[in-house]
Amino acid sequence: MVGIALALRREGMWGLSAYGVLPGLQGSGIGKALLEAAIGYGTGCLRGMICSSHDPRAARRYRAAGFTLHPAMELSGLVDRSVLPLVDGVREGSSADLDLCDSVDRQVRGAGHTPDHEFLMEFSELLVCDQLTGSGYCHVVDGSPALLSATSRRVASRLLWEALARSAPAASVSFGDVTAEQEWAVDVALAAGLSVYNEGYLCLRHMRPPTPYLPSAHFM
Ligand SMILES: CC(C)(COP(=O)(O)OP(=O)(O)OC[C@H]1O[C@@H](n2cnc3c(N)ncnc32)[C@H](O)[C@@H]1OP(=O)(O)O)[C@@H](O)C(=O)NCCC(=O)NCCS
Repeated sequence: MVGIALALRREGMWGLSAYGVLPGLQGSGIGKALLEAAIGYGTGCLRGMICSSHDPRAARRYRAAGFTLHPAMELSGLVDRSVLPLVDGVREGSSADLDLCDSVDRQVRGAGHTPDHEFLMEFSELLVCDQLTGSGYCHVVDGSPALLSATSRRVASRLLWEALARSAPAASVSFGDVTAEQEWAVDVALAAGLSVYNEGYLCLRHMRPPTPYLPSAHFM
């Protein structure tokens, strides 16, 4: 094996979950052949999403495949416990909330994540907010949001604060693939004491960046 590409299809959306070629063989055309095959798996899917690394070879391949490259930020660091707000309306979720999660995703990004939630729940905590004014959910791994989707920025911010509050006091948190459209998330992260860095691109085809939304690197 010299390389891999792993693609997902979810309700008319195609996503690239993993993509890599052995270091000594990069730049010789293997990635092009792999990506063509992975894109072929998405025949019939109009929209597409990839959370790209900063590798210029990857960016070149994705743009050549018709994706728009949205520069992304990574937010990381220790959460300043002294500024954590009291968050109300957020509770722990369970598999009984998965229809709600899919319905939020269909509104926010045009496609549910159905099988991904069960998988993510094996190693993440699910937080849910479901109120008259808006709904949303967040999968949290060690205080970092692994996937967040909400119908309003207010709900999204509450979920993000609650996720950050669940980090261990001396443990660094980190999340990426944050485009300029997610300023609500940048503002929460900066208020919580995290640092902002440039890192990679959110690559999209036939869609604008969904918002408020923090994608999962592997489940988009
Ligand atoms: C991204 C990756 C999978 C692409 O596979 P690959 O086999 O290197 O890709 P290809 O050789 O088919 O295409 C690379 C393109 O970048 C160009 N390129 C090669 N080296 C480059 C460099 N140092 N800087 C910029 N472009 C470069 C090649 O000319 C080619 O473009 P072209 O087809 O228009 O001539 C591979 O480089 C990789 O594993 N990178 C590290 C892991 C990674 O970042 N994966 C992406 C996760 S989102």
